[in-house]
Amino acid sequence: MGVHVRTNRERWNEISDDYQRFNAPRIRGQAFTGAIAWGLWELPESELNILGDVAGLDVLEMGCGGSQWSTALARRGANPVGIDLSERQLLHSRRLQRETGLTFPLVQGSAESVPFADRSFHIVFADHGAFSFADPRRAIPESARILRPGGLLAFSHISPLYEITVEPGGDRAGRRLVRDYFGLRMFTDADGLVSANLPYGEWIGLFRSCGLTVEDLIETRPKADPNLTGRQRSDNSWARRWPSECIWRLRKTSG
Ligand SMILES: C[S@@+](CC[C@H](N)C(=O)[O-])C[C@H]1O[C@@H](n2cnc3c(N)ncnc32)[C@H](O)[C@@H]1O
Repeated sequence: MGVHVRTNRERWNEISDDYQRFNAPRIRGQAFTGAIAWGLWELPESELNILGDVAGLDVLEMGCGGSQWSTALARRGANPVGIDLSERQLLHSRRLQRETGLTFPLVQGSAESVPFADRSFHIVFADHGAFSFADPRRAIPESARILRPGGLLAFSHISPLYEITVEPGGDRAGRRLVRDYFGLRMFTDADGLVSANLPYGEWIGLFRSCGLTVEDLIETRPKADPNLTGRQRSDNSWARRWPSECIWRLRKTSG
């Protein structure tokens, strides 16, 4: 296990309770309604149609956290499996399973080396999950390996453009390019988590080398919201001008 994986496991164990409390208004409801929404701006799957009909499909959530997404997909008839690095996050997953009565396998492990056979899943996905923290040069080949031919890999993460506007030690996007674009790989954030990203061309080259075809890259843009204040207001106005996150939709077409 690499140093960044050990660091992230410790940090996620430390921040898990706060993360679940803080994000509950945004993510908890979907576990009970099945109405899932992607990313920072909560864009409904019903509009984006990234996963489509999941009934009867074997689905792996990479970095499932509290498993709100997997629970929603179970409600929609999928056979989910959740994998996460953090035992504390998986504790929240188990609590949700007790509350909802919807149970499915939960596995502790890293996206960089997953304990599943080749061609196990129809869909591998994450919403700001493991692909934001695992080394993409390991996590993407692993995902391709466990996908069935024709299977779908879909995930969201912070955009490379956003990352290079964050001042070292800062935690928000600015209006100047302050970091090296070509140096994007693994980097430590202000909160002590080690994040991952790549220049766009390297993402695409990596996908191609794993037999994954890009079907879509959605650069999300939130609606203008005059009711927002403070940090939320400035984040929204930044993301109205520039892409703050990416959602990739990839198809395993060879390999
Ligand atoms: C931002 S949380 C997102 C979880 C979930 N998608 C949500 O919306 O709450 C990211 C999750 O990825 C997990 N994670 C980080 N690195 C990982 C890795 N290498 N393998 C598996 N999970 C990882 C963390 O433990 C954390 O639960």
